[in-house]
Amino acid sequence: MTRVFSGIKPTGNVHLGNLLGALARWADEQHLADSLYCVVDLHALTVPQDPAELRATTLRLAQLLIAVGLDPEACTLFAQSHVAEHTELAWLMECTASFGELSRMTQFKDKSSRGAGEFVSGGLFTYPALMAADILLYDTDLVPVGDDQRQHVELARDLAERFNSRYGTTFVVPQATLPIAGARVMDLQDPSSKMSKSEDAAPGTILLLDDPKVIERKIKRAVTDAEAEVRYDVEAKPGVSNLLSILGGATGRTPQEAAAGYTQYGPLKADTAAAVIELLTPIQARYAELAADPAETARLLALGATKAEQIAGPVLARAKEAIGLLPR
Ligand code: TYM
Repeated sequence: MTRVFSGIKPTGNVHLGNLLGALARWADEQHLADSLYCVVDLHALTVPQDPAELRATTLRLAQLLIAVGLDPEACTLFAQSHVAEHTELAWLMECTASFGELSRMTQFKDKSSRGAGEFVSGGLFTYPALMAADILLYDTDLVPVGDDQRQHVELARDLAERFNSRYGTTFVVPQATLPIAGARVMDLQDPSSKMSKSEDAAPGTILLLDDPKVIERKIKRAVTDAEAEVRYDVEAKPGVSNLLSILGGATGRTPQEAAAGYTQYGPLKADTAAAVIELLTPIQARYAELAADPAETARLLALGATKAEQIAGPVLARAKEAIGLLPR
């Protein structure tokens, strides 16, 4: 059976980009494959965290994933730090990746160049090796992610192939999968940069838990252009194309299909807002129920970690043996 693995970091608030780029497919496809979904709390540590806040955010994110539709009986939902094999395999991956490869990761380049004098951890640099370990630890075939993670999954592929050729076939070589619409949801106020978690309360970011009125307002005020033609053309019409991606993603169509029938921006915005609200309303209702019982979510995560360990343990053992570490 096909094995699927993906993860999301417990930092900031989950937004529409996360949902359309990744989470919606996690929920839709969890019954089609043997799927593992992970709240990657160790990845959050690349920047300093408030301990109480990190614990709370990790649990809330697991609740939100269940609210989006993950069924902990159908898939394996767990927290990364509960399965120690991730960090152990990460070291093997750090030693398989080259300094040059890690230096070329665009996310590292962006984040490390953000303000002079800002603290840049070593973890921010080696982070893609930990992500490769996350993926390879489960003999993963497919990795459903948004476009911004594609380069990291490519690196996981390269590391799997390099390790296999050096030490004999050990890892399954994974592949990223992207959605038909919404692989790169852009900021509504600045369609040249992607919608992102760090922009809290920003007018260009739609949060999964935003009130319908707020969603309507944000979409109504989305930046478009001076023309009056609805057409999917990311280069020439980034704002309108972003709305079409969102509308398509929310209604299961390509952006080009979503464009059919629109001649004006007003109705496009109104329908996009309505589709997003329709998508988010049931998620928000389920989240409110789950939020009332954090102990139940903690119990489900513990069960998920036990299931994950059963796969991760033998794969890590295989890798350690292949590389020549002395068995105990
Ligand atoms: P993270 O937490 O930043 O994002 C989670 C998922 O959301 C997608 N995404 C987007 N998709 C479309 N438009 C956007 N504006 C947008 N913003 C985010 C991301 O592509 C991702 O799929 N390093 C990863 C987490 C990770 C992981 C893994 C993923 C750690 N280990 C192993 C897959 C497999 C990250 O920081 O995602």
